[in-house]
Amino acid sequence: NKHIDAVKEFATTEKAQLEEFRVKYLGKKGLLNEFFAQFKLVEPADKKAYGQAINSLKKAAEEKVKELRTKLESSDQTQGQYGDLTRPGEAIEIGANHPITQVKNRVIEIFSRVGFNVSEGPEIEDDWHNFSALNLPEHHPARDMQDTFFIQRDPDILLRTHTSSVQVRYMEEHKPPIRTISPGRVYRNEAISARSHCFFHQVEGLYVDEDVSFADLKQTLQYFTTEMFGKSKIRLRPSYFPFTEPSAEVDVYWGLETETDYKMTKGTGWLEIMGCGMVDPAVLDNCGIDSSRYSGFAFGMGIDRIALLLHQIPDIRMFSENDIRFLEQFKRIN
Ligand code: PHE
Repeated sequence: NKHIDAVKEFATTEKAQLEEFRVKYLGKKGLLNEFFAQFKLVEPADKKAYGQAINSLKKAAEEKVKELRTKLESSDQTQGQYGDLTRPGEAIEIGANHPITQVKNRVIEIFSRVGFNVSEGPEIEDDWHNFSALNLPEHHPARDMQDTFFIQRDPDILLRTHTSSVQVRYMEEHKPPIRTISPGRVYRNEAISARSHCFFHQVEGLYVDEDVSFADLKQTLQYFTTEMFGKSKIRLRPSYFPFTEPSAEVDVYWGLETETDYKMTKGTGWLEIMGCGMVDPAVLDNCGIDSSRYSGFAFGMGIDRIALLLHQIPDIRMFSENDIRFLEQFKRIN
């Protein structure tokens, strides 16, 4: 009877222990066989009780093995070597897109919704694509607007100063209608400070087709600022770029709700966000597009500046310092 109690109380979640238990009672040299062997030594009067006792022990042991086996098998399916598959997962630590990438992706997404594709080009450029094709011949004073890094004193090879060079390449290779934006890194030989760096990022846009007008440009910009900043009030101020005529700077009305707004907009409520204009016909012709048939508009903005603005970051150098405490703050924004 004490064996029956022990059998009934036995429990395990380990396969090996269950096997040990089975061998102990039901194995060839197990207790039960031993008890059966002793049967012939039992007094005839006790044989009946003895026989019943070992039979119920046998039954109890067999039932126990069966019961524990099914239990172990069913939990095998959920646990086993893979652990409990029904447990909720643990969050995996993953990185985040850099704030510059986040802003770039948003700009791409907004323009792709109105039919612009994305084009890219080399950061090391030649004079033609960065300057000459864009109406900036050698010794043109406007070249000084973008202080240039040359590679190994070769005046023909340089680090691109804007992604307008990609637009030139795109026009050389594609026929209108053209709707493309060109994001990328650009370089200018400027003193590094909180507000400017010797490299930064741009997205420039180009639209060339028959009958493209300044009104189309303004409408596109208004769509963009509404989607990007939630601000639809814009103004265009006359400006100058060698590759566009007429040219303009785009200001967004940011409003004056907080002290930061006041500072950012120098108290006027207007914030400059990009340059734009109608592509100069000479530029179209330089790129093999017939300017008597086609017209176009172009615009360009600095991604870093927009990211500074959106997140109210005080120093542009933070973008390239790779300080994890800074970068981690952009994890859940995207
Ligand atoms: N390429 C100009 C710059 O880098 C921006 C621009 C692009 C202006 C297209 C007008 C049209 O400053």
